[in-house]
Parts: sequence; structure tokens; C-alpha cells
Amino acid sequence: MYWIEIPSAYLEKDAIQLVSLPEKTFCLVFYEGAYVAFSRKCPHAGAPLAEGWCEGRFLVCPYHRQKFDLETGKGLAGQGNYIDIYPTKKDGDKWYIGVKPTFLQRIAHLFSNKS
Ligand code: FES
Repeated sequence: MYWIEIPSAYLEKDAIQLVSLPEKTFCLVFYEGAYVAFSRKCPHAGAPLAEGWCEGRFLVCPYHRQKFDLETGKGLAGQGNYIDIYPTKKDGDKWYIGVKPTFLQRIAHLFSNKS
């Protein structure tokens, strides 16, 4: 995993942001003193989760109101689904998201270590 800085323009504390970076597109919300990064689409029918809202520790999907735990990503009992929660960290006044390398990046890394 490697870390990408989240541009400060996305560090909004009062609304869910859709963050588009070359490496990854994700949603970002400020919750309990930290930024939580999660899937941009709902696993139920693909709604844009940046248009959802938070009710306590739950993210609510704007289409059919399914709810997802912002700490675990799990949907409510009976939904049988989940959203991805991505790792974030703060270093100084900057925030970062942890990203897993793609398959092609892993292959390129293998070859770069052999020369
Ligand atoms: S698309 Fe999210 S609950 Fe249906």
C-alpha cells in the first residue's frame, strides 16, 4: 500500500466530497474528528454516494436509503452488502489515503527491482 495526499480543497468538514485523483476516485467525509474515505458507488444499485448524507455513524444512500457503517463499511442487518472503507492518516496538517497498487503497478515494481 502507498499513501496519496488528499488535496486540501477536498478537506471539507460539512459535506461529503467526491475526490477524483489520478490514482483513485472516492468519497470523503469528516466524522468523529477524522476523514473517512469510502466507495463512490452504492453496492445496491450504483447510486453516487457523494449525494448521500450521514446519520450518526451511518452513511445513507440517496436512492433507496440503505445505510452503511462508516467505521466498518457494513450495511445494516438484512442488506447483505457493504462499502469499502479506505485507510486515511494525518501527517502534520495534511491528510492521506492509503491505496493498494494495481496489478500492473505490482508487475512494473517487480521488473524495476530486477535491473
Ligand atoms: S442504490 Fe443505494 S440503496 Fe439502492
